[in-house]
Amino acid sequence: MNAPLIDPFARAITYLRVSVTDRCDFRCVYCMSENMTFLPKKELLTLEELDRMCSTFISLGVQKLRITGGEPLVRRGIMTFFQSMTRHLESGALRELTLTTNGSQLHRFSDDLYDAGVRRVNVSLDTLDQDKFAAVTRWGRLKQVLGGIDAAQKAGLRVKINAVALKGFNEDELTSMTQWCAARDIDLTWIEVMPMGDDMGDETRIGQFWSLKDVEELYGESYTVTPLPENSGGPARYVRLEETGQKIGFITPLSHNFCESCNRVRLTCTGELYMCLGQEDNASLRDALRANLDTEEPLRRAIRDAIEHKPKGHDFDYSRQKDGQSTGGQMTRHMSHTGG
Ligand code: 5AD
Ligand code: SF4
Repeated sequence: MNAPLIDPFARAITYLRVSVTDRCDFRCVYCMSENMTFLPKKELLTLEELDRMCSTFISLGVQKLRITGGEPLVRRGIMTFFQSMTRHLESGALRELTLTTNGSQLHRFSDDLYDAGVRRVNVSLDTLDQDKFAAVTRWGRLKQVLGGIDAAQKAGLRVKINAVALKGFNEDELTSMTQWCAARDIDLTWIEVMPMGDDMGDETRIGQFWSLKDVEELYGESYTVTPLPENSGGPARYVRLEETGQKIGFITPLSHNFCESCNRVRLTCTGELYMCLGQEDNASLRDALRANLDTEEPLRRAIRDAIEHKPKGHDFDYSRQKDGQSTGGQMTRHMSHTGG
């Protein structure tokens, strides 16, 4: 009953990413439209249901849990959820509890997160320029995020910055952001912008594709870049900048080269399980979750069934969007729903 989750391609599923809300206090141009419609609150899994969901996955061998959104820290009562996950860290079943955040609430929650057992946070931050930050997030204030990062570090949390690489936007900040991170002992990962959502692109000039191959080449002009062999089971590749000793990550979701080692699935805030970031294929676990409050057996069965359908690889392809017919690689859902 408790056999680990192994998909049809012999990959063990040990990493669950959970979106706890589709809402956010920012409106990043590449992520949401300004007048984004959110799900009615009643469609969200309750905090109790999220607990049951995550606990069941953990009983099936999930060892790493990443809480995402939207912005996870704007979900009311979310600290209760983090605290309830502490028991799985204490039992040893869960090895890591972590989150991806825009940083706006870290000044309030860093200490509580640490107390709950969180040791690392990923903070999304694309620029260190106040005006550019306001432009890309529309509603965000840089000062608040920087204060949040300070609070996180003071609380003892290791911080990683995720920056979306945007041509003509933060190209000129490659060196300054790298140095800023080095000075604070913060890891930095660049993310290639993905085609997401259905209503973006025209309303803003920010959001142009900047290939991470070019980013890496730019690093090569100022640093000695050594590729690192480590593999997180995800789309990130790492290099070391020898001059600073810094580890820099590159997330190229459009490349296929990581699918063989994929160890993860994504749960949305409404209880759908996405087996692959690049495919729409999903299974709703909500009915199984609600079917029986006395036993998790229906839920376990539904999870196993879903994992049986995890595809071999994903289906992003820019070239297919250009033929005007197919929307092949275009994601029609938003990252805020599936949690990135
Ligand atoms: N392309 C790449 N990254 C995205 N994110 C949101 N939308 C996109 C996109 N279209 C990232 C944010 C953050 C996380 C919530 O998802 O930068 O790191
Ligand atoms: Fe919010 Fe993150 Fe989307 Fe920006 S990218 S709107 S911070 S969920």
